[in-house]
Amino acid sequence: MSKLSRRTILNAATGGLCVAGLGALIPGRAATLANVDVVARSQQTSLGRAVRPFDRWTYDTGTTNSIIRGQFGETIQANFLNRLDAPTTVHWHGLRVSKGMDGVSGKFGSPLVQPGETFEYQVPLRDPGTHWYHSHHDSLNQIARGLYGLLIVENPQEPSLFEQVLVFDDWTVMGPGRGNYEINWTKLEPSLAWGHDGVKGRVLTINGTVNPRLELAFEGATRLRMLNAATGRVFRPSFENARAWVVAMDGYTCQPFELTEPLFFGPGQRLDVLLEPAGLGRTQLFLGENLFGKGTGFEFGLGLESSGALAETLPGFTPYAPAELQPELRASQRVTLDMSELYRDHPEGAGKVKGEWQDWDSLVNNHRYWLFNDVADNSLGPLFTGRVGETVEVDFVNNSATHHVMHFHGQHVKVKSSTSASHEIGTFRDSITFEAWSKATIAMKLDRPGLWPLHCHILGHQVSGMFTYYEVT
Ligand code: C2O
Ligand code: CU
Repeated sequence: MSKLSRRTILNAATGGLCVAGLGALIPGRAATLANVDVVARSQQTSLGRAVRPFDRWTYDTGTTNSIIRGQFGETIQANFLNRLDAPTTVHWHGLRVSKGMDGVSGKFGSPLVQPGETFEYQVPLRDPGTHWYHSHHDSLNQIARGLYGLLIVENPQEPSLFEQVLVFDDWTVMGPGRGNYEINWTKLEPSLAWGHDGVKGRVLTINGTVNPRLELAFEGATRLRMLNAATGRVFRPSFENARAWVVAMDGYTCQPFELTEPLFFGPGQRLDVLLEPAGLGRTQLFLGENLFGKGTGFEFGLGLESSGALAETLPGFTPYAPAELQPELRASQRVTLDMSELYRDHPEGAGKVKGEWQDWDSLVNNHRYWLFNDVADNSLGPLFTGRVGETVEVDFVNNSATHHVMHFHGQHVKVKSSTSASHEIGTFRDSITFEAWSKATIAMKLDRPGLWPLHCHILGHQVSGMFTYYEVT
């Protein structure tokens, strides 16, 4: 599919169009506005041999992985139609949209789109890279059912390489085993899994199937655009018989570094890797889906395309750091976000909800397992408020034995320090990695007015306490 889309895009670009295969451009509109039709609907699918067909929820854009491609600098108008029987939204993860376009309803200002209704999202492509979009209503449930897609913003300044998209996911199933699984959505219901490392499915897929065809250029480097779309599972991918260089994380290009050991790849995160076969054996990807071991292996085949050589291509990737997001040296505010499990021996209670301390049982009975600064599900006021252009620093402390992925809406932030993810230091990310008991500090120059969520992207954690927000005026 990427072969096709890459070609089509290049041809279309020279013809003056901006997005190909994504719904017609409306004549008379500025050439930088591309229209995309996105229809949320239920569609019968199987995940390959292992699982009986079931109704998957999907964003239908007419492409595998619901890929939307656009060019850096243009604006996409997504004409959204909800053909599900449940209300939903579209959140543009990693993209700097305006207030009201972010797909978070209620006080965050985006409409909840009812069955049969439509909404036009304006999505300016301010930042190149591999981004994604997903439901932000009843997210754990709706994303697990498949309501997400990839949004690739092409950067004409970057070396153009043969590309493959790899979307990792896992699916909750029941049944006797191989070949006989049935999808089981009841695992998405409130459970103690929320209080541990999230909801994890036993069937792992790449691009929606257990037996994907993964293809590399027969010579040169292939750019893998990877997304972890699982709601709870952290993958730790690694490669064998290949040279693998990370060139972008969460869409933004970084100083390229060689991937020599499995790398934390949490829910919602993106990872762009240049991969060039090396050595005599077959080139393989290992998912690293468990705490130990290499995990499930997938073999790459070689296609017919040739691509740029790794060594010549790498210098074309330089860190992306838009001036308006570059934090000032001195922050005007500094806040702490302490992430923790419920307190066992705090004199006043196990945690607070809506300003009141609660005991252990009442929190657990309401499926609240996580606290930000003593509070589960903060709704009383923003973590901080600042003006556009102001620099704020946030010191995160993970006081828990579990890993987390802290995701900022509204903008990417710069990682200043991290005790568990040194590869993130100095980079811009929309999701910050936390291993158990780790710390990190980020700095952000506030970019867009609005109320913006800040939450763990392990969605079982998000729904059981790890949610707050900040305000930009
Ligand atoms: Cu990708 Cu608030 O989410
Ligand atoms: Cu978490």
